[in-house]
Amino acid sequence: MSLALNTKHLSSFINEEEYKAIYPQVEAAHKTLEAKNGPGSDFLGWMYLPRDYDKEEFERIKAAAAKIREDSDVLVVAGIGGSYLGARAVIEAVKGMYHNELDNGLKIYFCGNSISPTYLNDIIALCKGKRFSINVISKSGTTTETSLAFRVLRRLLEDEMGVEEANKRIYATTDRAKGTLKQLADAQGWPTFVVPDDVGGRYSVLSAVGLLPIAAAGISIDDVMKGAADAMERFSVLSPDNDAYKYAAIRNILYRKGKSIEILECYEPNFTLMNEWYKQLFGESEGKDNKGLFPASCIFSTDLHSMGQFIQEGSRTMFETIVDVKKPAQDLFIDKLEGNFDGLNFLADQNMSVVNRKAMEGTILAHTDGGVPEVVIEVDDLSAYNVGCLIYFFWRACACSGYLLSVNPFNQPGVESYKKNMFALLGKPGYENLTAELEAKLK
Ligand code: PA5
Repeated sequence: MSLALNTKHLSSFINEEEYKAIYPQVEAAHKTLEAKNGPGSDFLGWMYLPRDYDKEEFERIKAAAAKIREDSDVLVVAGIGGSYLGARAVIEAVKGMYHNELDNGLKIYFCGNSISPTYLNDIIALCKGKRFSINVISKSGTTTETSLAFRVLRRLLEDEMGVEEANKRIYATTDRAKGTLKQLADAQGWPTFVVPDDVGGRYSVLSAVGLLPIAAAGISIDDVMKGAADAMERFSVLSPDNDAYKYAAIRNILYRKGKSIEILECYEPNFTLMNEWYKQLFGESEGKDNKGLFPASCIFSTDLHSMGQFIQEGSRTMFETIVDVKKPAQDLFIDKLEGNFDGLNFLADQNMSVVNRKAMEGTILAHTDGGVPEVVIEVDDLSAYNVGCLIYFFWRACACSGYLLSVNPFNQPGVESYKKNMFALLGKPGYENLTAELEAKLK
């Protein structure tokens, strides 16, 4: 496995004594996780999922993906949060953000991840007249964004292909036994896949939630799982050399020293959705009880031309975690230009990846000089295998980090507040008392 934490740029921010001082807490967090006796211990199904996943369902996922690739031009995936981000993150990291434009095969679009009518109309336009299938993903089966988009797209599918054919093209990923979506799926005979009870949304990408769209994109889910399984072997062990735990320790040391923001960064635009996935993972896991690092993200060098100024010279509230992808999926040789009209011949006769690397190295040094601690996660490439490794690395680190912070890293009580208000303002039965109170506040 090619994943390693490089802490050499942290030496002026964290000393050996600080690592030693926090280690007994890391040890305690590890023991709590393994003994399954800490807060949120009902949601630890992810810990050994890369080993213990349902092999029979795994094969059904592959078969469904093959059928979708065979009989569809478009797969629309409806889901939000944990039922959305992981699949899209893996697909874009491995296949690139323009995979739909560049790949002659199946197009994959995501919806149900907002309530924007403009966005949904665009998705409808992309499906109309095409052979399409739907993968609706919702553990609860009741999430408004997902259910609304699915209602509209299901209607379109039935109108275009007839109810009987539509029923063969809807794949529901939901709870094993309960919920509206499960009932509907059983009644209509849709193939169903399971979100395990003990796996929360942000830990679900290696269940059917992520695996069906990823497999449909033509990515080897065997490779993704193998990467995660190898990472599981390595990062589930208690040791000062466990990089996932060391990263968790670093985050908490810096938090206790006053840092309030972590920026995850990558010099590959294809990592954009992995950044979003990381933000959900850490944001929902740690942002509670008035505590936690705010997870932010940047893609460099793009954002060096926007956020770079703030990071270099703004308030000293953040540290940066750089995902250093050693080998890009593709390189580009820069030729010499006769006459050197653009003055760029100093970059010529080498690969563009070298320029990108020098930008990274220069930025790390500049930001360190600017007082920003720099953590580096090195990974060989963004292959399916290594993306699987990264997923498990971040899972383990996040769980440990949450326990170091003394929060329950596996719940998300705060996300209910907006829903309650939205339902009251929309007049959902049962919310009448709140409606008047909120409307008065909006006047
Ligand atoms: O992490 C979470 O629990 C959330 O982000 C959920 O995944 C998200 O709200 C979607 O929920 P559901 O799968 O029930 O539709």
